Amino acid sequence: MKEEIYKKKKQTGDHAPNLDDYAKVASEFTWKDARPYVDWFDGSLNAAYNAVDRHVQTWRKNKVALYWEDEAGNEKKYTFDELSLLSNKVGNLLKDFGVERGDRVFLFLPRIPELYFSFLGILKIGAIAGTLFSAFQEQALCDRLENSGAKVLLTTRDLKSRVDAIRKKLPELKHILVVDEPTFTKSVEKSSDVLHIAQTDPDDYAFMLYTSGTTGKPKGVVHSHRAVVQEHMTARWVLDLRDEDTYWCTADPGWVTGIAYEILGSWSNGVAALVYAGRFDPDRWYTLLDKYNVTVWYTAPTAIRMLMAAGQDLVKKHNLSHLRHLCSVGEPLNPEAIRWGLKVFGLAFHDTWWQTETGAICIANYPCMDIKIGSMGKPVPGLTASIVDDKGQDLGINKEGNIALKPKWPSMMHTIWRRPQKYQSYFTNGWYLSGDRGMLDKDGYFWFIGRADDVIKTSGERVGPFEVESALVAHPAVVEAGVIGKPDAMRGEIIKAFVVLEKSVLESTKTKAAQEKLKEELSQYVKKHLAGHAYPREIEFIDKLPKTRSGKIMRRILKAKELGLPVGDTSTLEDY
Ligand code: WTA
Repeated sequence: MKEEIYKKKKQTGDHAPNLDDYAKVASEFTWKDARPYVDWFDGSLNAAYNAVDRHVQTWRKNKVALYWEDEAGNEKKYTFDELSLLSNKVGNLLKDFGVERGDRVFLFLPRIPELYFSFLGILKIGAIAGTLFSAFQEQALCDRLENSGAKVLLTTRDLKSRVDAIRKKLPELKHILVVDEPTFTKSVEKSSDVLHIAQTDPDDYAFMLYTSGTTGKPKGVVHSHRAVVQEHMTARWVLDLRDEDTYWCTADPGWVTGIAYEILGSWSNGVAALVYAGRFDPDRWYTLLDKYNVTVWYTAPTAIRMLMAAGQDLVKKHNLSHLRHLCSVGEPLNPEAIRWGLKVFGLAFHDTWWQTETGAICIANYPCMDIKIGSMGKPVPGLTASIVDDKGQDLGINKEGNIALKPKWPSMMHTIWRRPQKYQSYFTNGWYLSGDRGMLDKDGYFWFIGRADDVIKTSGERVGPFEVESALVAHPAVVEAGVIGKPDAMRGEIIKAFVVLEKSVLESTKTKAAQEKLKEELSQYVKKHLAGHAYPREIEFIDKLPKTRSGKIMRRILKAKELGLPVGDTSTLEDY
């Protein structure tokens, strides 16, 4: 196959990228060199201070940090100074509720301004912030709040009922603060805006996110304040953020991208950021890009594919001439998406690769570097990446293997909350194994091949099949379920469930109509108990699931059958 290369012209003067010579910087840079880019208190470091408060000492004090708009068109804006004072107030309020260093404070909020300044306030008092997608339902919430032992939860009136339903199972949860209740707003108003910011050790825990693997419940990936160092440098080098930019990251802080590049790494660069608290809608998205004169845009392949499907005429209705740099994360970026970007915006989407566990971008395409279309680019300076086999032996170039990183990098996770062995299982022979398969070419570019495990990526969201299977099995009609990611042109993958029905149910649902009705009921059931986005869009009833002799569901076989591929090695399979 012939390589398709998008050649970059060398930009100089004001147009020169922040990182203008990848090869040089990659060969010389060590993380010590990043020290001057963030503010330290002697040896200690606070990520939220770096995101917001340090700018208050400079001309950026009254610069707008956050442009906010919701679906109904309500608008708000906050300067760095306002974010600093509001987060101080929340910090003081949380202290009044007995929150101490190391306590977990969780945010179950839509993308409202309170989410952003509360997140900062939590970090500023040395507590650990946890974020939860507002799409989460009871089971998903319960798993995360129970495991984290969250002491305080901030939520809204609308979302609170889901927490009330599980409250009995959460003995460690002491307070629920409802941010749109007058009691909360009044307390914030009364609370002091002077706060002594915790002089946290760089390795003190700052935030945690639950993410999915193949097996078991979601795991709490814990990050420390030091993460801001790499988040800052990558926002600078990869997103190429500058003072004059208006930047829009479309992610939700329930996802690591929303924390690293909507709060910490982006604001620590002093950039003005747009947050849109609404659902995806092509016309609205273009309207926002136009209205706020967005210059740098960080989004995800599913959104790009949906924009492509909405057609080019829609783009022409808007003035998007101020866009200058586009980036993407979360799933493989299709070459067609890059070609489309070049056609309609005159700009290439720059793919970036990383994970909840890595805490910041690790492999990327840079503004100064030619893009090999379809490749994820090269390691971030300061990082060593390679392709290794399952034993952690380096495979060199042109071989398929595990995408691996050499520990430690500044934003590497510190632990898996209350599961130290799970944490250890990521490391083999001195490498961190990502769970992704890939290839390295002779020019140092990395290529993504697929997941090594059964993790599903649907619209960029990471979903563990076990969580969906457990939710299905809780329904009385279901005996067993096996869940896979089925390739989908728009969403990357969709969740497909193979379900074994209870005998009596099976007998009473012989007609196609009855079966369709039950499938719909099961989809809704998962939606209602687990999450609005992590439900099976396709369900198939089968007699028996393929399993190993020890009883493990072989999703690999379900997937191969679904795709009409060879089933492969079945020697460990029980009679099927
Ligand atoms: C996938 C996302 C292909 C990958 C910040 C990874 C990608 C998982 C890319 C992490 C990319 C992320 N190309 N696949 N550029 N970026 N992925 O933890 O499988 O939600 O392991 O973090 O997304 O997903 P997570």
